[in-house]
Amino acid sequence: MNHSARNQTTPSNNTIPQAMLILLNLIALSFFILILPNLRKHKKPPPHRKPTPVQPLHPPPLPVQAGQDLWPNLVPEICAKTSGGDSISWSGKEVLKTQDCNFCTRPSLVGQQRLSYNRIDVIFAPHNECFRELKILCVVHLFSSKKVQYFYPIRREEDSKMIEKISSLSSASEAVNLSELLGSYQLYHLLERIFKEMDEFYDEIISDHLDPNKPKYEHKDFVDVLLQLKEERRFSFDLTLDHIKAVLMNIIVAGTDTSAAIAVWTMTELMKNPSIMKKLQDELRSVLKDKSFVEETDVQKLEFFQAVVKETFRLHPATPLLVAHEAVQKCTVQGYDVLPETSVFINAWAIGSDPPSWREPELFMPERFLGNSINFTGQDFEFIPFGAGRRICPGMLTGIAGLELALANLLHTFDWKVPTDVHEEDIDYDGVPGVTMHKKNPLCLVATKRTHDT
Ligand code: HEM
Repeated sequence: MNHSARNQTTPSNNTIPQAMLILLNLIALSFFILILPNLRKHKKPPPHRKPTPVQPLHPPPLPVQAGQDLWPNLVPEICAKTSGGDSISWSGKEVLKTQDCNFCTRPSLVGQQRLSYNRIDVIFAPHNECFRELKILCVVHLFSSKKVQYFYPIRREEDSKMIEKISSLSSASEAVNLSELLGSYQLYHLLERIFKEMDEFYDEIISDHLDPNKPKYEHKDFVDVLLQLKEERRFSFDLTLDHIKAVLMNIIVAGTDTSAAIAVWTMTELMKNPSIMKKLQDELRSVLKDKSFVEETDVQKLEFFQAVVKETFRLHPATPLLVAHEAVQKCTVQGYDVLPETSVFINAWAIGSDPPSWREPELFMPERFLGNSINFTGQDFEFIPFGAGRRICPGMLTGIAGLELALANLLHTFDWKVPTDVHEEDIDYDGVPGVTMHKKNPLCLVATKRTHDT
């Protein structure tokens, strides 16, 4: 979530500048504007077979109509279009498992190149040695389950502050703008300005951390860990400050925006489905009894709550088309030759809504996740909100921990209703097209503190 990630990267008084919010949008915009021409690169078919310059034929999630002109055909899973104009469809498993080694690189896009310090980050990096080492660094030193536990006090403190803030709005009978509180969404700006502002922001964070007089915190944060690894020279390449800045950009972009979007979609679904909200709050009450704060150890016991979170990921994957993959080399998928540098979009939303795998897929029905082990860890190819294979999200545990703790506390501490001048039916599912799918209209609700002594 915005609040916890901010604290993890900035224990000082730094705040994420306006530019970060603009940056998130810029990346979303560049995804649409810059990838599309790229896709049409391979015009000439090779002599013996049709090539498959993959075109983005998938729509964003169904409730979201805004991107329909960009996504004209509804085709499930992964879709390619041959140079002859025929549509073909591949399974996610074929591309992310069987042929993962052929599709594990990323297309090079001008905007992302600049923001990722010439692709020396993790998200936008090509699949090379530097990427592999940095990804291991992330998995082992920043986002392992041990690190997730280590950062728990930071998440706890941030969530307590959030509860306090909502409590004071609640006492004043004021509505809470959850979209704003959990992570906001703003409009586009010029790339150069964003890059400059972000670069200065990272510099400021790093110099704060290098300052020998800085206050000593009991817990090291992500920046301390990265600077220590730089100092220890553990890599086959020289880990520079630019690498650190590029990874910081990834943490801020990938770690804040996605969790915030999911938190808002979960609250939206619960408001639209009051019986599910009641069942969930009953579970919270029966497991937590009179405890006022939900601890991370409690979250593990909340079976229905976890099913609600999974169901939100299925219907509203934060990044419905994952992040674009690219063919590393010429390969053959289900009888079609694919040229190197072909962009491939994997439609996690369509995969999670495919009728052969999901009964009544359009319904929000958390019970479908009870009594089975289907999970988003990249093993179940009918449910891949974090991707799968070599490019799977390394921050999955961190993201889930922050999201679940915040949501469980929001739902355990408060009852939620729409403001008096709004009807529940007025809450919509409109989204803003982009890499991360945010709710378009802010979700504003009135919170009432629950009593925990019954
Ligand atoms: C609810 C939260 C999150 C969701 C839904 C999410 C989802 C994703 C998805 C779909 C991808 C692309 C997978 C692909 O291309 O196949 C990805 C990549 C990535 N995510 Fe996350 N993510 C979340 C949280 C985080 C957090 C908290 C961090 C770090 C603090 C993070 C860091 C990354 C990085 C570095 C990559 C690039 C991996 C690569 O290219 O190899 N994510 N994430």
